[in-house]
Amino acid sequence: MSQAWWRGAAIYQVYLRSFADGNGDGAGDLTGLRGRLPYLKDLGVDAIWLNPWYPSPMADGGYDVADYRGIEPVFGTLGEAEKFIAEAHGLGIKVIIDVVPNHSSTASAWFQEALADPGARERFWFRDEPNDWQSIFGGPAWTQVADGQWYLHLFAPEQPDFNWDSAEVRADFEDVLRFWFERGVDGFRVDSAALLVKDETRWEDLDPVHDVYRRWREIADEYGDRILIGELWLPDQERFARYLRPDELHTAFNFDFLSCPWEPAELRRVIDLTLATHTPIGAPPTWVLANHDVTRPVTRYGRADTSFAHGGALHGSPSDPVLGVRRARAAALLAMALPGCVYVYQGEELGLPEVEDLPDAARQDPMYARSGGANRGRDGCRVPLPWSGAEPPYGFGGAPTWLPQPEGWAALTAEAQSADPGSMLTLYRRALSLRRELLGDGTMTWLDLGPGVLAFTRDSGLTSVTNLGAEPVRLPPGDPVLTSGPLTDGHLPADTTAWLYDRQT
Ligand code: GLC
Repeated sequence: MSQAWWRGAAIYQVYLRSFADGNGDGAGDLTGLRGRLPYLKDLGVDAIWLNPWYPSPMADGGYDVADYRGIEPVFGTLGEAEKFIAEAHGLGIKVIIDVVPNHSSTASAWFQEALADPGARERFWFRDEPNDWQSIFGGPAWTQVADGQWYLHLFAPEQPDFNWDSAEVRADFEDVLRFWFERGVDGFRVDSAALLVKDETRWEDLDPVHDVYRRWREIADEYGDRILIGELWLPDQERFARYLRPDELHTAFNFDFLSCPWEPAELRRVIDLTLATHTPIGAPPTWVLANHDVTRPVTRYGRADTSFAHGGALHGSPSDPVLGVRRARAAALLAMALPGCVYVYQGEELGLPEVEDLPDAARQDPMYARSGGANRGRDGCRVPLPWSGAEPPYGFGGAPTWLPQPEGWAALTAEAQSADPGSMLTLYRRALSLRRELLGDGTMTWLDLGPGVLAFTRDSGLTSVTNLGAEPVRLPPGDPVLTSGPLTDGHLPADTTAWLYDRQT
C-alpha cells in the first residue's frame, strides 16, 4: 500500500486532560503523553489527534481558545509540544492537532480588545439587537456586553464566534496553520467546520465557507503530506461531499456511522451511503465509533436503543455491560475492516464504559449547566484513563483527578489488560496490527450470508463477517485469523465478528 498515509490510517484520539498526568496535579499533560508514547506505538496506531492544547480558561474543555499559538500551561510548554512532535515522529506516529476557527475565547486578546473598544468589534459578531438563534449548548446564542451590544456565540458565552467576513480573521488563521505546520504537525482536525461563515439568516453550511478550505488546502499542500480533517455534522450527503472535493479538506468524520444503531440493515445502509458519497470524489471514508462528545460504545451498545443522538436523552437508561462489551468488540472489528481510515478514542481500546454516575458537582461540561441539568453532558466519556493499580487514580498521576474515576476499574487498566489474551486491549492490538498488513484503504465487496449478517471481502483476501442476528451462522471458507469472541463449532455466534483470511485469493 504505497498510497498517502492518511488514506488508510488508524488515528488515535488523545483527550490530553484525561490521558496521563506527568506532574501529579490530577490533569493529563504533555509529560504524561510523552511517557505513554510507547503504549501507543505498541497499540499500533499511525497517528494521534489531540483535542485543543492551547491556552484556555477551559469553559468548554479547551474549545475556548485564548491563544492559537501557545500551549495551555496545565498541559506544558511550546518547547515540550515540539519535543512531543519529534518523539512521536521518531516512533513513526503522525501528529494531528485541533484547530477551532468558528469561535475563540472571551479571554483572547482580540475579544478583550473588542470589549474595551466598540470600534474593534469587526473580528466577531456584534449586533445592536440579537436575533432568535439558540446556542447549540442550550439557551440563547447572544450575550449582552456592558455598553448594550450583543455578541454571537453558537456554543457557550465564553466562546464568541468569529466573523469570517473579516480579512484579518482569515489571514490570522492562515498564519496559525503555518505556525504549527512549521513545528511539524501533520494535520489539523477542523472543529465545527461547517459553521464559520454566516449571514443574518443562517449559520451553517453557507457556500463561501468553501473558499476558506480551498485556501487552507493550498497552504497544507505547500508543506506536503499534511492533512485537514473536517468535523461536519451534515445530514445531507451531497452538501457533506462538497467539503471533500480534491482542493478542500482531505477527510471528514463519519458521524452517520457513529450514530448508527447496532442493526444490520441500518449499518449496511450507512456503509453503502458512505462509500457512495466518498468513492466518486476519491476521498477515503472514515469509520468512527466514539469521541469526546459521545456516549462510550460499551454503554451505548448495551442499551435497548443502541443509536447515538445529541441531547443526552438516553443518559442513564439501563445498559447490559456484557452485551455492550460483546457488541463493542464486534463493532471494532467491523469498523477496522472497512476501507479507509479508522479512529480510536482513548479508552475505547480498554472498553471503558460511560461514567454515568458522576456527582453533579463534578460535572464540567457547559452543556450540563446550560441545559439546567436536563442534558447530563459529555463528562462521562472524558474521565481520566486507568493505567495500572487497583484503585483511583489507577496510575493516571496525581489525585484527585480533575474528574473522579469510579471504583471498580482495576480490571480495566492498561496494565491488567496487557497480559490478558481475552481483553479489549489485546483485541485492539491484534486488530490494528492485522489491519496494517491486510486492510486500510481500497475497495470492498459484499457477500450475501443472510439478512442479519454483514460480510465483505477486501482486496487483500481478508473477509470480515459480523453476525447481528440471533442465530449462529456458518462461516465462509478461510482461516479465522481474529474473532471478537469465541466461535461455536465453527459457527459465528450473535454479536460477534470474525476476520478470515484466504491465502488463495
Ligand atoms: C466540537 C467539539 C466539541 C466542542 C464544540 C465547540 O463539536 O468536538 O467538544 O464543544 O465543537 O467547540
